[in-house]
Amino acid sequence: MKPSTVEERAHAKINLWLEVLGRRDDGYHELETIMHEVDLADRLVVAKRSEGVTLSVDDPTLPTGGENLVVKAVRALEEAVGRSLPCHVTLEKRIPAGGGLGGGSSDGAAVLRALRRLYDLAVEDRELERIAAEFGSDTSFFVRGGTAFCRGRGERIEHHGGPPVPLNWVLLFPGFPIATASVFGALALTESPREGYDVLSVLERSDVASLRRCLFNRLEEAVRRLHPRIAEWLDAMADRGLRVSGSGSTLFLLANDAAEAEGLVKEIEERWGLKALATRSAPTR
Ligand code: C5P
Repeated sequence: MKPSTVEERAHAKINLWLEVLGRRDDGYHELETIMHEVDLADRLVVAKRSEGVTLSVDDPTLPTGGENLVVKAVRALEEAVGRSLPCHVTLEKRIPAGGGLGGGSSDGAAVLRALRRLYDLAVEDRELERIAAEFGSDTSFFVRGGTAFCRGRGERIEHHGGPPVPLNWVLLFPGFPIATASVFGALALTESPREGYDVLSVLERSDVASLRRCLFNRLEEAVRRLHPRIAEWLDAMADRGLRVSGSGSTLFLLANDAAEAEGLVKEIEERWGLKALATRSAPTR
């Protein structure tokens, strides 16, 4: 018997490296970024229906209509396979929206994977990645997730093995969202972009101290200017290697081990009143 319901976890990502090469004619920016999935995840349950596409979300601030990336993903897949894929999606949000963690994009990619299983569709990962690029910039990465070097808007993906053992991360949540477009709008383009490819070999050796020194995000400077509170936190925890993920607002740092990560969460919550979370690199799928 084929299942009539499937479940998927939609992981968050952090950007271990993010360089902006320039502005493109379509208004987007050409990027080079290393995306890395962590074990903070939304949960999706996708159930077959006889008709229509509906979505319920446990966060009342999020849209449930055609503007939600989950619904966009269903529509894009229906178009690609030339048939309707009626379903109800129940989404439990754990990844904050507007947080630079790719939550909405990950939900969109997760629903593509779920529908492939639910409807037994003969669609390969590469094809799902192409479909995902139609409704977002970092959506394609989340089809396979893990660790990847991504170019273009993020849709040209080179998958990598990632660290041999999961790394321990601390995420800091400032408690307000940042619109990605505002950060790209405030960005001063560099004449001499940095090369981040070597960071992958440091990551693959699990060399924590070197990796901490390599973490880089070109968008950080624009985020600092737009949000002075974030600049304060970045400066105060600079010796810990605190970084911005994507266009913010989530900040992250690499801990030496799980115990240190838990200790840092307590310290950050007490000292700065910031919500924080210890997490690890996501398990490989
Ligand atoms: O892809 P997403 O819809 O999240 O992007 C939001 C906005 O961020 C875009 O409309 C664009 O202004 C900016 N952006 C960009 N270059 C990228 C990704 C996003 O300029 N590679």
